[in-house]
Amino acid sequence: MGKIFATDKTIRMGIWGLGRGRAFIDQCKALNIEIVAGCDLNKTMCDDFRKICPDAFITQNEDEFLACDMDAVLVATYFFAHADDAIKALNAGKHVLSEVSAFFTPAEGVRLVEAVEKSGKVYALAENYADQFVKKLWQDGVFGELAYAEFDYVHECRPLCYSYLYGDPMIPGNTAHAWRSWLNFHYYCTHSLGSAMEITGTRPVKVYAPPSDKTLPGYLPGSEMGAMKPSFVTMDNGGIIRNLMGASTADSHTRKIWGTRAYVDLSSANPIVRLGQCGRSTAMTLDQPKDEITELASKAGHGGGDFYVLYNFANSLLNGAPEPWDIYRACDVTLTGIMAVKSEYSGGIPIDVPDFRDKAVREAFRNDHFMQMRLDPKKIFPDDQDIKETSHFANIMNDLDRAWTFRGVPLVIAAVEGMKLYPYMKDVASKVAVQTKVQELLRDLPSLVDTFRQAKYLMEKYAGSPAAEALRSLCESAYPEKFENPEAFRAELTGWLMHCNLSSTPQLSMSADEAVLEKVQVPECPEGFALRKFREGDEEGYVALMKSAGFYQWDARNAENSKKTAINGGIYFVEEIATGRIVATAMTNLMRTPSGEEKGELGWVAVHPDFRGKHLAEIVSLAAMKGFREAGYKWICLLTDDFRIPAIKTYLKMGWKPIIKDEAMNKRWERIYKRLGMKLDTDAFNNNKSKN
Ligand SMILES: NC(=O)c1ccc[n+]([C@@H]2O[C@H](COP(=O)([O-])OP(=O)(O)OC[C@H]3O[C@@H](n4cnc5c(N)ncnc54)[C@H](O)[C@@H]3O)[C@@H](O)[C@H]2O)c1
Repeated sequence: MGKIFATDKTIRMGIWGLGRGRAFIDQCKALNIEIVAGCDLNKTMCDDFRKICPDAFITQNEDEFLACDMDAVLVATYFFAHADDAIKALNAGKHVLSEVSAFFTPAEGVRLVEAVEKSGKVYALAENYADQFVKKLWQDGVFGELAYAEFDYVHECRPLCYSYLYGDPMIPGNTAHAWRSWLNFHYYCTHSLGSAMEITGTRPVKVYAPPSDKTLPGYLPGSEMGAMKPSFVTMDNGGIIRNLMGASTADSHTRKIWGTRAYVDLSSANPIVRLGQCGRSTAMTLDQPKDEITELASKAGHGGGDFYVLYNFANSLLNGAPEPWDIYRACDVTLTGIMAVKSEYSGGIPIDVPDFRDKAVREAFRNDHFMQMRLDPKKIFPDDQDIKETSHFANIMNDLDRAWTFRGVPLVIAAVEGMKLYPYMKDVASKVAVQTKVQELLRDLPSLVDTFRQAKYLMEKYAGSPAAEALRSLCESAYPEKFENPEAFRAELTGWLMHCNLSSTPQLSMSADEAVLEKVQVPECPEGFALRKFREGDEEGYVALMKSAGFYQWDARNAENSKKTAINGGIYFVEEIATGRIVATAMTNLMRTPSGEEKGELGWVAVHPDFRGKHLAEIVSLAAMKGFREAGYKWICLLTDDFRIPAIKTYLKMGWKPIIKDEAMNKRWERIYKRLGMKLDTDAFNNNKSKN
């Protein structure tokens, strides 16, 4: 890849705030930017940064950082601190690239504009959501003027109220995040309004926002983060933008613009346009031409936006190019968010967005310190708290709300509500998703019961405190009565799994042919375990194992049946030597199809949940496959379900292939391969029919 800028000049840049701040590092080299310093109060952030930039000067002290020999500072500190931090950097003689938004109060905005003007340095806001391709088309006049637009930035991040970006619970654990635990989402309007402004070249002049306070459970009382925050913004050409910010039950990033000549929808990867200036025009999908710049951008975060932020900043510093998000545009977007909060607090009245280019207008806001009601995230328990107890709060919240991996309360709600809606689910994928959630909830139930118990203790002991209220609302949303009686809850879930079925949808099947069977070698058991065949008296342990592994319908009759259908007595067990307990099993089943055909089937593979991760399923399966080979079988099959992803992964590893007889089955397998991060070999399609 060649150089983007025709100069050898380098910008020495420091990053202040090493969470989000780190996201830009990969793009720097191609843009003549050298990262020479990093600063964060948090030691883990510093240590992680050191791994990426070992030669940079790294410090937890901002004065040491600002004293560094560097041209520019990327400010990615706390949301409410950007103005003060940018001013400190400008005063230290650095150009500033500031994360969104630019400031928190109008008075800070006045100070920031004056500091930028006085410094003569470049100031840029790191607004990163505009689509550069559509911006260019807009400038070419394809869409006419902005008439109306709908832009959303709805992004639920509740776990970040109580944990760091890297996933660990907040330290100390009796506190919440510095701003994510309370910020009114209107302040964050840059990601939606900013992109509409940049594409259409318009400027906001008035905003009105209705009061809206339906906050999700689990947020601290008084937090304005977990709610939907809609506003209407009038632009300087008379066009209107419906700007929806918020955090709620479904993320969305709608971006639709109705121009006076044509319409464009940027909500998905490729822009969709409707041409012809009439309502019935056909939707047409565009593809952006590729070049060196778009190639680099495609590797950066936020759909390439992170690249353009740096590109524009560097272009400004190296070539004097105009910065699209200079201090005045930064004021336009930031002030709209602030005025939206003002409007919301005033019952939804329209409020003018001041233009800080005008010194007289600025003057009127010099002492305007308006800001939302703020919580103190360090005081969420009473002063006389027992810190040994309350320091577990962030940990408990982290366990209750693992939204990123869909565990905790999100899993409980999705499983229980999913069971209710299951009869109405139209496609197999949706039904499989519910079955998977119920299985996962069963897996997590013991630890969740314990977490609910710990939450209850804090809730009752510190009743009325903000932390206890957050815990209470979160737990109440997830059927706490079920956690009072976990055995009944387990029985409810297992009972449902036993009786739910995928109606007329057949199970998935896989096959292993002669070549696979010939290669079978049974590995040694791990130390403390032994492989053996079924012995009389094993029935009870066999049934217990099957139930523990999720085959809840299994009983003594199944065990008797397996004994009858096992080819050459081929029920294989792995036994824990110390206890004699059977912990894994598989069998050589003689399966009779409804048409009377007989097939060798690898049957009833199961591993006790306490013994997973030791490759025991592989050992018993390979033992059974060897049994088939010795009995003269040259082709065998197995049946499985869409949600048994770990088991399918093991079968694929052993050489089993999907049996795919039609397009519907192909789709199901495609989904499974995607979840495994693999690509389905289409040769398997229709090539795998029974040969037995
Ligand atoms: N444009 C985007 O797409 C985007 C995405 C994420 C975050 N952001 C913005 O970036 C900023 C940082 O966000 P984040 O997600 O990293 O969360 P954050 O607020 O948790 O991170 C701020 C980091 O700065 C450090 N810090 C704060 N004050 C400091 C000081 N005085 N000296 C040294 N270090 C200090 C903190 O320890 C923390 O690691 C936020 O303002 C956010 O709005 C923008």
